[in-house]
Amino acid sequence: MLIWQRVQMAKDDDVRVPILDGSTAAASLALRPLSPLDRAAVQALCAASFPIEYPECWFDEVVSGSLTSLGLFDDKQLVAMIVSETKNISKCNLEDSDIISNQSALVVYILSLAVSNDYRRMGLATRLLNCLFESVVNQPPYPRAVFLHVLSTNLPAINFYRSNGFRWHASLLNYYRIGSGFGDGCTYVKYTNGQRPPLSISEVLRLVGVVVCFPLKTLCKLFSY
Ligand SMILES: CC(C)(COP(=O)(O)OP(=O)(O)OC[C@H]1O[C@@H](n2cnc3c(N)ncnc32)[C@H](O)[C@@H]1OP(=O)(O)O)[C@@H](O)C(=O)NCCC(=O)NCCS
Repeated sequence: MLIWQRVQMAKDDDVRVPILDGSTAAASLALRPLSPLDRAAVQALCAASFPIEYPECWFDEVVSGSLTSLGLFDDKQLVAMIVSETKNISKCNLEDSDIISNQSALVVYILSLAVSNDYRRMGLATRLLNCLFESVVNQPPYPRAVFLHVLSTNLPAINFYRSNGFRWHASLLNYYRIGSGFGDGCTYVKYTNGQRPPLSISEVLRLVGVVVCFPLKTLCKLFSY
């Protein structure tokens, strides 16, 4: 994978030439929290990465310091970012409340993850996710799950999350407003710090079956002697 740089040629043609191989460039990027000075860069990265329009107040919140917002910078240019929030599951939206049955559990919600087009498939999103795990998820008070919403047609992102151990949890019909239409969403979850996913209906039925059948089987065996 190569990083490309736009250079001005004699005839004013805009041509792209490779300047570094991906792994060299990825290692040399600087990681730091986003600050209010990065607001315009965050807005530009989101506009280039998502079909969804975020309200202005959302960008204020991302750079305000109230969320965990990290950026990767190539020199002074923001090339990737991850934004997350740690909260009690009871404070999450209704559609997310069944992620964990213990309603006092803490969870991490990834609000946004974006990598600039020219820097994709170089491991930058993986690096940001690893950083979130090292600095938040694997630290006290040890949140029990990390989750996010993604457009159901966004296969690169779904592949990315699946390859990092996230699993489909729910489909959300017409979850996103895209221009004048709507797009379906999905919830992906990774359980952490020993937390197990809630039992599915088939698992509950199997357990009930075992609980009911075991004494019956034992009785039948007793009477058959
Ligand atoms: C999704 C996104 C964040 C991935 O960023 P990235 O830095 O390119 O991801 P990584 O290089 O860390 O990829 C790690 C793995 O994820 C998977 N993956 C990433 N991009 C993929 C793609 N376009 N197609 C298929 N798999 C992909 C691969 O398994 C990849 O490993 P590999 O490169 O060794 O095959 C990036 O494509 C992006 O910013 N997309 C637009 C914004 C977006 O959709 N964000 C997520 C919203 S929830």
